[in-house]
Amino acid sequence: MKANNPYRLDFPLIANSKCAYLDSGATSQKPSSVIARMEYFYENENANPHRSVYKLSENATVIYEDARKTVADFIGGSSEEIVFTKNATEALNLIALSYGNSVIEKDDEIVMSIMEHHSNLVPWQMLAKNKGAKLKYLYLDKDYNIPDSELAKITDKTKIVAITLVSNVLGTIVDVKKIADIAHKKGARVVVDATQATAHIPVNVDTLGADFLVLSGHKMYAPLGIGVLYGRKNLLDNMNPLFYGGDMIEYVYEQDTTFAPTPTKFEAGTQNIAGAVGLASAIDYLNHIGWDKIRETEDEIMGYALEKLNALPFMQLYVPSQRKNHTCVISFNIKNIHAHDVASFLSSENVCVRSGNHCAQPLLRYLGLESTCRLTVSIYNNKDDIDRLVKALENVYNKFKKYIER
Ligand code: ALA
Repeated sequence: MKANNPYRLDFPLIANSKCAYLDSGATSQKPSSVIARMEYFYENENANPHRSVYKLSENATVIYEDARKTVADFIGGSSEEIVFTKNATEALNLIALSYGNSVIEKDDEIVMSIMEHHSNLVPWQMLAKNKGAKLKYLYLDKDYNIPDSELAKITDKTKIVAITLVSNVLGTIVDVKKIADIAHKKGARVVVDATQATAHIPVNVDTLGADFLVLSGHKMYAPLGIGVLYGRKNLLDNMNPLFYGGDMIEYVYEQDTTFAPTPTKFEAGTQNIAGAVGLASAIDYLNHIGWDKIRETEDEIMGYALEKLNALPFMQLYVPSQRKNHTCVISFNIKNIHAHDVASFLSSENVCVRSGNHCAQPLLRYLGLESTCRLTVSIYNNKDDIDRLVKALENVYNKFKKYIER
């Protein structure tokens, strides 16, 4: 990689900050093109879409629906299959509370991986409790992948398989297509959490075999507060809305209501139009760089980070060994030092990593861990960020070693 990563200058916070920002898995920084696009919207285009016949409102409708089309072109599917939500969590709750609630019955099975973020786990757990259904988990091999033998847990009783595409703790890339093929043969539907994937690897609903797929804009250079639920049209058409109110209706009578077609029936009330516009702009930014350059840039930093961290004798890393199964996330610990202490020390040296259970308590428990530190690599990171992390880790180890080696 060139000494100066050219993409850094696209991100004002990165370009102007002294910190090594290695927590894009929690939220990414935003390029100036996205910030400018949202500012332009509020300064020149702000109106409520789908509501009025004056030009400003009609234009807002066009902009909002164009953003939906941009998302559909990015992940596959048609515009009618793209529902805007506030984030991936809301999208997953919508699937569980609407689709899940209508299809799951007593003794049915819901299959998940043990790697799921709480947002793709708790909604299914609550649904299973309410319905008397059974939760089954796909566990991991020693290399942090789901072995084929676990897939036998998907049976004729399985109605839903809810699976992450990229683990937010381990960085494991799951072979969702293989799982989806098995699930479909058993008559189950597949819900894909692509939250940690969409900034880093190409995601396509048809290639993956996803019946539903969710993403969060803020992890892919878009603003906070906008997410997406993709659902196959025949499924969305047969689902009940979760929220009721303005815009999602067709006719309202004193005693009854009919609903607008998909996707509008899932978007009650005034939506986050600026967020949708910002998400479309972030997708334009990703498309403009292109997957080849994104992969080349991030792979080089990941390779460098793995080499440097593996060379530190006091480090424990939790990553798949095969680079093809792994992207952009490295969880680690220094033996006998709590992850929060390590992360606090790194913070004092202006290095930003997340520490804790990463909203994945069942995974941490399964791994026999209480917490880890986690770095995530993004398009704007460079080798200097990694060098600063490594130096800070050496400092924290040297500071604590007389206590931890006693
Ligand atoms: N889900 C986000 C993460 O993994 C917050 O950090």
